[in-house]
Amino acid sequence: MENYVLRNGVEIPKIGYGTWKTPDGDTCIQAVETAIKTGYRHIDAAAVYGNEVSVGIALQNSGVERKELFITGKVWNTERGYGRTMRAFEKTCKDLQTDYLDLYLIHWPASPSQYKCWKELNSETWEALTDLYKAGKVRAIGVSNFRRRHLLPLLQEEIIPMVNQLQLHPGMTQDDTIALCREYDILPEAYSPLGNGKLLNSDSLRMIAERYGKSQAQICVKWSIQHGFLPLPKSLHEERMKMNRSVDDFELKEEDMKALDVLEGFGTGNDPDQITF
Ligand code: A2P
Repeated sequence: MENYVLRNGVEIPKIGYGTWKTPDGDTCIQAVETAIKTGYRHIDAAAVYGNEVSVGIALQNSGVERKELFITGKVWNTERGYGRTMRAFEKTCKDLQTDYLDLYLIHWPASPSQYKCWKELNSETWEALTDLYKAGKVRAIGVSNFRRRHLLPLLQEEIIPMVNQLQLHPGMTQDDTIALCREYDILPEAYSPLGNGKLLNSDSLRMIAERYGKSQAQICVKWSIQHGFLPLPKSLHEERMKMNRSVDDFELKEEDMKALDVLEGFGTGNDPDQITF
């Protein structure tokens, strides 16, 4: 399994295991342990997923050394601002049973319900992430769900995001944001790379998958990687976990990549500005 290399030289495994919506407790512990057992070394967590304690138990149970794992955390909307972010970081580390994170992200760019404007809040939160980075408590920092307009102000900062985690999958390419990421060497990570599983029923995708003798899920993961994205597929099933990272033995043709880019019916993603928490 290859790695991507972030702008600061930190290596990050090319496929991660997502934990969004994974039910807390035994289900989550079992799932993350199985993911690690089947070879995943990159685990994508977040405080708001409500399952970080379980992820932490699974990391311990795995027996894999901490330095072999790449762990991402995210600061939630309600914890933005300098002091709150610092406290949220400490709690996440405690829950995940680690004393550092490999990557820490601002989870959402905007929350209209909050009293300060999002630019100010993001800038204060970013200052906290920058200080954590400088103190060696996180190996890399970034953002999530940031569209072009949200990213622009942070590009003026001393240290700019190394990662932007977005909803990306066939039929949803977020072109203008991705263009900006490429310009500034910000690695795009793809959440819901299988379109939350819904994509897998697409007839066009099924036909492409049949031609390659691969599953629809493998086509989605490969599409992500060929675009230079870092996919974060999730499954609770061992066979699917294995399948989702077995994509090294084929290459999608350009014409199929293009057909997947515009797969119909899957282009509406979350608009971060429209979601109020
Ligand atoms: P399950 O956990 O039962 O395997 P995404 O990663 O885009 O959010 O998609 C996750 C959804 O896709 C989950 O519902 C998961 O269900 C399903 N899924 C994950 N991998 C596969 C696969 N290889 N084949 C079919 N469904 C899958």
